[in-house]
Amino acid sequence: MSVLRKDFLWGGATAANQFEGAWDVDGKGPSVPDMCTNGSHTSPKWVTTAVRPDRLYPSHEAIDFYHHYEEDIALFAEMGFKCFRMSINWTRIFPTGMEEEPNEKGLEFYDKVFDCCKRHGIEPLVTISHYELPYALVERYNGWEGREVIDCYVRYCKTIFQRYKDKVKYWLTFNEINSGTMAMGDTLCTGIIKGYEGPVTGTVNKDQTRFQALHHMFVASAIVVKYAHEHYPQFQLGNMICFVTSYAYTCNPTDILKNQAQMRRMNWYCSDVQVRGEYPAYAKRLWEENGVALKMEPGDLEILKEGTVDFYTFSYYMSNCTSADPQAAQTSGNLAGGAKNPYLPASDWGWQIDPQGLRYTLNEIYDRYRIPLMVVENGLGARDEIEPDGSINDDYRIDYLRQHIEQMIEAVKDGVDLMGYTPWGCIDLVSASTGEMAKRYGFIYVEKYDDGTGSLARRKKKSFDWYKKVIATNGEDLA
Ligand code: BG6
Repeated sequence: MSVLRKDFLWGGATAANQFEGAWDVDGKGPSVPDMCTNGSHTSPKWVTTAVRPDRLYPSHEAIDFYHHYEEDIALFAEMGFKCFRMSINWTRIFPTGMEEEPNEKGLEFYDKVFDCCKRHGIEPLVTISHYELPYALVERYNGWEGREVIDCYVRYCKTIFQRYKDKVKYWLTFNEINSGTMAMGDTLCTGIIKGYEGPVTGTVNKDQTRFQALHHMFVASAIVVKYAHEHYPQFQLGNMICFVTSYAYTCNPTDILKNQAQMRRMNWYCSDVQVRGEYPAYAKRLWEENGVALKMEPGDLEILKEGTVDFYTFSYYMSNCTSADPQAAQTSGNLAGGAKNPYLPASDWGWQIDPQGLRYTLNEIYDRYRIPLMVVENGLGARDEIEPDGSINDDYRIDYLRQHIEQMIEAVKDGVDLMGYTPWGCIDLVSASTGEMAKRYGFIYVEKYDDGTGSLARRKKKSFDWYKKVIATNGEDLA
């Protein structure tokens, strides 16, 4: 008997800007990722202040889900998906983020996507804002630094809640909101890049701006959670954290304390606010030591209290270590690197593979919050080869996923209440960190390459049938 819930939400995860393409079709406006060029593991992608004719912008076509959604959702259904995590592209609905009236064509597109999911018995899990801030809000307000963006976001949410109230039950307010605590998040998450053109890793914002922008996002998230609870009791609202588990490199108490500080800033700060409805006790010192003086409006703290999420979701790919030793060998990772762990292998992009870390992480989160959890991203970014007979034997991906699912099941045995699992990039799509196509995660291969060429044809990888069996047996047969 499977230990997982009978209604466990098996599925896969995507984000609009990384797979829809059609960036300027049917009235869509430009969003931050539409201003991002391609890059690689060794050469960072850039954000530009205008679309430059001599640069390649991977989001513009991506894998063109916009025109392939029926075929793609049918393939997800063939694997047995119960759930499909996707995001709505804000600028399809409000092209600059500031209009009073929505763009009907944009709304119609997601009607069609949700109807297609329904025909296949697939439950959508919708990220409202997945690294897709309207670029006009960057130019006008310096992204989320501007308090005015709260109203823009609330208008957008009210519009999509009303439109899709009978089609969508599960919503996430912001993807990986905690990425806003670090440089990479300046572009991807908070959009505090007004006038900035350069590598996405090269922004020089101060923590003052970052934490102020995050405060506005917390308030925006809480307002819409409260609103949804009052108007649509059938909805479930979640947060979403990029969980970068870190271990103290040694048992030296200095390393332990440094790691605790790292875990708080990176992983706990945002969810403590979104789940508990208040800033944590350690926030005051964190702000003081980083030169942050938050500007709040009367009523902000009350709204945070009233708009706490119903479930907690996170991405988990890797772990790293924290060391007080400046000589400690370093490794890269999802949005943030750290000290290298000598016990762990790593992907070609230097992300350390740590399945047991997922069990540990699920337990840590559940101990802290005691609300249902969902792993909404996990997976191995790897280069795939097409064999002469057309097959793609991605055993390395199967191994990675199998080991993580095993540990997820152990965590459930430990007592964690787990709602579901949607591995990242269930169909190959553009990498968020590098803009590459070569970094593939999918069960479905897409013929699209780093130079922008490719037929866009879809083909099943070996992992496709493997995952189908995993879902069919509710995680009992992982062989
Ligand atoms: C998460 C993001 O950080 O990781 C996704 O929510 C992203 O948008 C995924 O694509 C994998 O990262 P990458 O950089 O390999 O695409």
